[in-house]
Amino acid sequence: MNSTRASQYDHQMQYRDRSEIIVDVQNFHKSYEGRSVLSGIDLKMKKGDHLSILGAGGSGKSTLLKGMLGLVQPDLGQVSLFGQNIFQLGRQERNALLNRVGMAFQLGALFDFMTVRENILFAMHNMTSLPDFEMEERVHRMLASVNLPAAARKLPSELSGGMRRRVGIVRALSTSPDLALLDEPTAGLDPVTSAVVIDMIHKLAAEIGSSLLCVTSSVEVAFTFARQVAILNGGRLVAKGTWKELHELNDPRITEFLDIRGYTPPEFDGINGKENA
Ligand SMILES: Nc1ncnc2c1ncn2[C@@H]1O[C@H](COP(=O)(O)OP(=O)(O)OP(=O)(O)O)[C@@H](O)[C@H]1O
Ligand SMILES: [Mg+2]
Repeated sequence: MNSTRASQYDHQMQYRDRSEIIVDVQNFHKSYEGRSVLSGIDLKMKKGDHLSILGAGGSGKSTLLKGMLGLVQPDLGQVSLFGQNIFQLGRQERNALLNRVGMAFQLGALFDFMTVRENILFAMHNMTSLPDFEMEERVHRMLASVNLPAAARKLPSELSGGMRRRVGIVRALSTSPDLALLDEPTAGLDPVTSAVVIDMIHKLAAEIGSSLLCVTSSVEVAFTFARQVAILNGGRLVAKGTWKELHELNDPRITEFLDIRGYTPPEFDGINGKENA
């Protein structure tokens, strides 16, 4: 292939890649003990998308993320990741597919008997084929980037909840996942650390090229994390858009939820105001 044709080919591949649907959740239903939690979730993400899902406490955010990993079995509905239906794959194939996904669980979900360094190395050993020196270098570089330079040799029990959460995020991103799922990544962190952590996630994701999905009950976190936010209400994703688009829908289920929490993104000077940027 000559260089012109090669670059046209690269261009086509990039174009095709960007339109690739990497998450396709269809009609996902889940009830616990006869009580419906999710009642028909439809969610699509393309490669490179950053999306937040905003929902009240107990609205089913963690259930949805676990469903996307096959950790929660839906009563009805499908989940495809990278074009493959996860519930139709054998165990080995599913694990291979999930190696492309990083998950930061709400409470960190670290192994108590391993140090922080070992927790992160364990994920990398299982999910990547990086050389040992690169894994070690990554552990230390990424911990430093979340302001935990001295945490490597500590046990999770020696860390605060917020520190464990940051380690959980590092572990999720350490494997260079194509898709990272983040469950309340900044809950319980002070506003400054919270901003640092979101910034760190964006920087790491930009280096890796990961697509990002964050679920949160904080309006501020949702819109700081991504411009596109989907609203989870009554077991369904009732709307998706930028802060301005969501307000313009004039849907009380959405506006009340956004306004009660009294957050306006810095680029706007009010609900009906113009965009400053
Ligand atoms: N394994 C389970 N067994 C029974 N009920 C469950 C289970 N997991 C979740 N639930 C219930 O489902 C509902 C949704 O829970 P989920 O943890 O998904 O909500 P959430 O939006 O993540 O909440 P939070 O904002 O508090 O993290 C809650 O009422 C919860 O009690
Ligand atoms: Mg949750």
